[in-house]
Amino acid sequence: MSEIKKIKDQYFSQLNKSLDQNKLNEIKTELFGKNGIITIKFKQLGSVPEEKRKNYASEINLLKNELQELILKKNEEILNQEINKKLKNDNIDITLPGRTYYTGKIHPVSQVIDEVTSIFSEIGFSVEEGPDIENEYYNFSALNTPENHPARDMHDTFYINHSKDLLLRTHTSPVQIRTMLKGKPPFKIIAPGRTYRHDSDQTHSPMFHQLEGLHIDKNINMGHLKGCLYYFVKKFFEVDKVKIRFRPSHFPFTEPSAEVDIGYKIQDGKIKIGEGDKWLEILGCGMVHPNVLKNVKVNPKKYQGYAFGVGIDRLAMLKYGINDLRAFFESDIRWLEFHGFDPLDIPTNYRGLSR
Ligand code: PHE
Repeated sequence: MSEIKKIKDQYFSQLNKSLDQNKLNEIKTELFGKNGIITIKFKQLGSVPEEKRKNYASEINLLKNELQELILKKNEEILNQEINKKLKNDNIDITLPGRTYYTGKIHPVSQVIDEVTSIFSEIGFSVEEGPDIENEYYNFSALNTPENHPARDMHDTFYINHSKDLLLRTHTSPVQIRTMLKGKPPFKIIAPGRTYRHDSDQTHSPMFHQLEGLHIDKNINMGHLKGCLYYFVKKFFEVDKVKIRFRPSHFPFTEPSAEVDIGYKIQDGKIKIGEGDKWLEILGCGMVHPNVLKNVKVNPKKYQGYAFGVGIDRLAMLKYGINDLRAFFESDIRWLEFHGFDPLDIPTNYRGLSR
């Protein structure tokens, strides 16, 4: 038997046994290492008599290729075996039930604040914020509310200290003052936030939410106020036509002042906004009182404008048919599950009534 055939038989039988990676590497070195059998055979080619050299060379080449191919195959086999072994050992029990994840819901108040903010930002209002704990000056005095005004009454206001100079803001109107003091006219802002009054029943909660609006510029008149409110009510309640009624009223910080009602009717046990002959109060508004402008160093002869304050919770109740305000703040997860909004299911800026 030729030498080459011998090598072939020997290594073919070795490579066909079951091997591990180490053993395979050993064989590889034995054959193709620096002093490997095949390597040396190639080195010795020069000493083979010329007439035999060509034949011999091609024989070794053939053997080399065959062996390499076999080694490659074996290598793959070993890798596969290892993967299969691993899979078997790391057995995953796919019959175990998966973990349940609960997604949170967006509270109707947060939802309405988002909607309202988006609606007003479309007509150029930017958002301002103020603190829940206010001082007497921003909440009352600067807003032209004299010391003996009923709004200051102990029954309405939560005072925080005995000297009555710190309180929980009773409305978002102090943000008007803060905004105008820190900037220069024109002003066009809304301010959503928490407000507090000593009051609690089905439609009143001691903590509730308001949205303040303020627009001060040269030549702003009550027509602008009306236009703005019509736009807002139509957008918010998603109706083309809406009936709005301005009722004369009084706020110390606006002159003239009005309360705004929207028309509605009850149809199939559901409230329909915009039509019908019933009226529902939704906000207070008016032209900013010259004294307020003076207090914040804005010249009332040059600048004027309107302000309004809307009850956000009331808006949420009306739009989404929720009738007890107190439930809003009881933190009952089942209530939120039912009345809340899916954070991932908001098709437009304001997801609105389509849910
Ligand atoms: N701050 C008033 C309230 O809480 C509402 C209001 C705001 C009225 C702005 C006029 C102008 O009742």
